[in-house]
Amino acid sequence: MNFPDEFLWGGATCANQFEGAWNEDGRGDSTMDHFAMADLVNDKPREYTYINDSQRIYPYHTGSDHYHHYKNDIRLLGEMGFKIYRLSISWSRIYSMGDDTQPNQKGLDFYRNVFIECHKYNIEPMVTISHFDIPMHLVDKYKGWSSRKVINLYVRYCKTLFTEYKGLVHYWLTFNEINIGKMIPNGLIINGALKENRTMNFFGKPTIEEENLAYQILHHQFIASALAVKLGHEIDSDNKIGCMIGSMTSYPYSCKPEDNLKNQTEVNMGNYFCGDIMVRGKYPYFSKKYFKEHHIQIKKETDDDKILEEGKVDFYSFSYYSSGVITTDNEIEKTYGNLVFGTANPYLKKTEWGWMIDPIGLRFFLNEVYSRYTIPVFISENGLGAKDILESDGTIHDPYRIEYLRQHILAINEAIGDGVEVMGYTPWGCIDLVSASTGEMEKRYGFVYVDADNFGNGTYNRYRKDSFYWYKKVISTNGEDL
Ligand code: BG6
Repeated sequence: MNFPDEFLWGGATCANQFEGAWNEDGRGDSTMDHFAMADLVNDKPREYTYINDSQRIYPYHTGSDHYHHYKNDIRLLGEMGFKIYRLSISWSRIYSMGDDTQPNQKGLDFYRNVFIECHKYNIEPMVTISHFDIPMHLVDKYKGWSSRKVINLYVRYCKTLFTEYKGLVHYWLTFNEINIGKMIPNGLIINGALKENRTMNFFGKPTIEEENLAYQILHHQFIASALAVKLGHEIDSDNKIGCMIGSMTSYPYSCKPEDNLKNQTEVNMGNYFCGDIMVRGKYPYFSKKYFKEHHIQIKKETDDDKILEEGKVDFYSFSYYSSGVITTDNEIEKTYGNLVFGTANPYLKKTEWGWMIDPIGLRFFLNEVYSRYTIPVFISENGLGAKDILESDGTIHDPYRIEYLRQHILAINEAIGDGVEVMGYTPWGCIDLVSASTGEMEKRYGFVYVDADNFGNGTYNRYRKDSFYWYKKVISTNGEDL
């Protein structure tokens, strides 16, 4: 096997889907607390409710109750031999309103304790500074990232984190799946731009105004990210700060040149637009034409280009669940994917949720991004969402998950053999957590089972799945024994 000795094996979670304790110890209201559960019976997607409705279920309020289980949870990660644990910090746990003068001490203490606990087991934390959440007060006051004012508030939040956790955290990601921001309306919702109820929609057609707003928001986030990178390096030169892109890799449906050209155009804006700005420090050439055709005009300030140039990330991280297919033919079967809806690939199997399973696509994507950027790459999410059964003896048999992960690890191994510099791998939801797209607890990714159902019933006790023992062996043999 090709894995280097320093390969960072681990797993990933995020605050809103995992922590719960949404209104405890001074934590403020966040956009994520406003996502209601999908209506699974009538196959209706999740809704963002600007004013929460007491009749509805908000699964993130409880998550997996990690807030009250963190010691045991990290002990389990330690038992698997994790080298790295990717988690996110909830902005509103640190600054409950976003613009308060002082941070919330209890919030700071919570994450400090988490990091201390990680280091007990020799686990390096990797922190996502913003994983789809923003304090609700900033939505009320500024419509979230629509306003340039939020940049300074974010940078101040980063400064608090970099200073407080200096020496405890060396790996940071500025924004989770930043490219989701241009999917409308979902991007506008997660970035706090809407003060109205809105249903999540994976195939909506944006208006010109909405698309302008989505790109303006992204511009603010690029500037915020670049300033954070610069500051993070100044505060601790050992900090390594990366971007996080939701990979939208796809193949042309046929070898028809039109399909190929369409695929290239979509991949450029879908995949490379954000990565190019964050890694290369400037807007890519193809965005000019896109902006012209879509009547997009971004308001920039004089120093913005310089800020982008000075705040390039140290490594490129991405999530990878599946690949897509692009065609000029509208008649071909469609399917769901991670936050997208697209054409089905007839050569691949799908998960229960319709996401295509494509380990070779991961090798392909690793080579694509490494050849483009030539900086280290990190797979910050990957995994199989599936229903698991807790047996009466407390065991969970999940060979389907082991098989999915095994195939993807083999693909990473091949990519390393191809010469790609891969830093590490953190499969998603290493301990079961609430699904982002549907709000279900029963769409599980973990090596550790959390005893809770879609409606928050259960003991929240943790159980080791078969994949737990398998992954432990994978880590201890550095990928030799798969
Ligand atoms: C990514 C997100 O898009 O995919 C996670 O960063 C999310 O927050 C993950 O949970 C898997 O998606 P889902 O919908 O199965 O939870």
